[in-house]
Amino acid sequence: MIKVAPSILSGDFANMGKSVEDATIWGADYIHFDVMDGVFVPNITFGMPMCKAIRKHTALPIDAHLMITLPEKYVEQFCDAGADIVTFHPDASENVAGALDAIKRKGKRCGLVLNPDKGVDLIAPYMDRVDMIVLMGVFAGFGGQKFIPTVLDKISQVHQMIVDSGRAIELELDGGVTEENARSMTDRGVDVLVGGSSVFRSADPAKTILVLRG
Ligand code: DX5
Ligand code: ZN
Repeated sequence: MIKVAPSILSGDFANMGKSVEDATIWGADYIHFDVMDGVFVPNITFGMPMCKAIRKHTALPIDAHLMITLPEKYVEQFCDAGADIVTFHPDASENVAGALDAIKRKGKRCGLVLNPDKGVDLIAPYMDRVDMIVLMGVFAGFGGQKFIPTVLDKISQVHQMIVDSGRAIELELDGGVTEENARSMTDRGVDVLVGGSSVFRSADPAKTILVLRG
């Protein structure tokens, strides 16, 4: 069963509680929560207080995607703010293992994210401890970008690494997911599809979620 994680980056910033409630009613599996610091990526969104605020508006797992420099400084605070899954970019961190372990000590799921230009060598050493791997289909920073098709090969490569690990690691695809291209990703082993603009800009978001799930 494919999971769908609407990204509230494409929600209503003046009404985030409602955006989260809407996504829950539409049939989402996770709420994808994009944190940007204006340093690791050229955009700024929201942080721990927003995570805590939306926590009250859904029972779904919050999937926090940290696009921030030195995520090890903040991962525990995101866990305390109600995130259930915390993922970050290994190239932003000086202590990847320490940050992953800190998330696990909080009893939460941990994961690593790769931008389209980053190789699997960055995640290979951590296959024994991650619960999720996120492949970016676009360069992190903004919603509404077009999927970069060369990522399809990386999906197959990482799927094989997950099979070889023998562990239950979820593979998430983030960025550029549409009703038209979702199947090309899930066919290659993606378990979780993030949908920002495709879900929130849809005329019928509940139907879009069903179509993405396939
Ligand atoms: C991009 C974010 C994505 C984004 C996806 O930096 O990490 O999660 O919200 O948006 P769409 O689905 O519109 O590409
Ligand atoms: Zn994201």
